[in-house]
Formats: sequence, structure tokens, C-alpha cells
Amino acid sequence: MIILKSPEEIARMEVAGRVVAETLAAIREFVRPGMTTLNLDRFAEECIRKAGAKPAFKGYRGYPYTICASVNSEVVHGLPSADRRLKEGDIIGIDLGVVVDGYYGDAAVTLPLGKVGGEALRLLRVTEESLERAIAKARAGNHLSDISHAVQSYVEAQGYSVVVDFVGHGIGRNLHEDPQVPNFGEEGKGPKLRPGMVLAIEPMVNAGGSEVEILEDQWTVVTRDGSLSAHFEHTVAITGNGPRVLTLLVG
Ligand code: MF3
Ligand code: CO
Repeated sequence: MIILKSPEEIARMEVAGRVVAETLAAIREFVRPGMTTLNLDRFAEECIRKAGAKPAFKGYRGYPYTICASVNSEVVHGLPSADRRLKEGDIIGIDLGVVVDGYYGDAAVTLPLGKVGGEALRLLRVTEESLERAIAKARAGNHLSDISHAVQSYVEAQGYSVVVDFVGHGIGRNLHEDPQVPNFGEEGKGPKLRPGMVLAIEPMVNAGGSEVEILEDQWTVVTRDGSLSAHFEHTVAITGNGPRVLTLLVG
């Protein structure tokens, strides 16, 4: 069942979304080679609490951290660690969610550390562009799978593959609600999009094959072939005036 949100609820979700955006922007300024992914987690939690929000992932299904920090061939759900030191040339996916007064926001970016290879940069550009194309389809009257198809068709045309084992999701008073939002599929399938739906759209794109596996830590998802992977995510409301991205910086 898809829970529709009122304009007032969407405004509250935008408050949470802004904290997510500001925290990601602060991490973008803060991160540099030599830091550990645990340093980033501590920094993020501090930003979130200073803003009067709470980390959404911490404690969710037993997840122990504020952010997911997924480096290079890690796809999503990378566990922050004092043993994972970042180096020039890495790419790092930072995924974070917050809750403010019971309403959630969720977004992710993948950042290059210092000078990174041209192929890695292209992967980042393509993944981010696939998210933009997906958001453009988040309009009342379209079908859910038009979003999915926009991601898959663009990504595959660029020679990359989409992850199928993990998907985006509805979001609201819960981090995860119906519907699932896959990054693959034919156009014109699934529920019709309606004003008041709010979706976390999150393409996960591999430079090589789409197969992934989960490490012994039970969380970290990696590409099976060891190829690089990138992840971008926004929380997006469907309104009478088209898509409204709730996890944007203002100004
Ligand atoms: N953005 C991810 C998601 O929506 C992150 C979840 S990590 C978890 O699934 F710890 F909260 F599960
Ligand atoms: Co999400």
C-alpha cells in the first residue's frame, strides 16, 4: 500500500531532506585522503545532531552507524571503519538518512578523492545523470517503471550495468515504504504515479557486471567482479507541479 503525503507532510519531509543535503555538503568539504570512513561517520552524526535531527540508519535493522560509506568496488551499505583509510584516487559513496519530527529524508552521493581516473569519473557522471533522468520521470500520470526504465536504458547505453538485487523505495514516516523503486524495467508498468507519493530514487551502477555479493560483515555489498560501483540518491515528491526534490541544498 502506497501512503500518500499531504502538502504539509511533504513540507516536513523537506525539513529532514535539507538536513540530509547539508550534511552531505559538509562531508564533501570535510573528506580528504588519509581519513578513515569512521571519521566521516562521527562527523556526519555531529552535523545531524547539531541540526536537531536524528540519524535514520543507526539502529535500523541493527545497522550500527550513521552513514553507509562504500569505497570503490563496494556498492552500498559499506560499514564505516577505523581500519578503512581513504586514499587519493578512491571513489566513496556516502549514503545517509535523517528523521525530524517523525519524517524521513534519505540521499546519497559518490565523491572522488583527489585525482581519480577518467573511467571512474565517467562512472560518477553517468550514475548522477541516470538519477536526473529518473527524477524527470517522477510525474503524476507516468508509471512507476518509467523511472526504472530511465535509469536502466541510459546506464546500459553508456556501457555500464545496474544493480538488480537492491532497489529504491517509498519514504515518509518510515525509512522504507511501498513501493519498491527498481533501477530496471520496461516502461509503462507498475502503479501510476500520483501527487503525494514520495520516493527515494537510488541508482546503483557498476562499471562491470551487475552481480553483487554481501561480505562476511553481513552488510557491505560489493561487485562480484571487483569493478567500481557508484550510487546517487534523492528523496523526491510527486506534486501537481512535477517532481520536487526534497534533499536539495537551498541557495
Ligand atoms: N539508503 C539506503 C536505503 O534506503 C540505506 C539503508 S542502510 C540501513 O536502503 F542501514 F538503514 F539499512
Ligand atoms: Co534509500
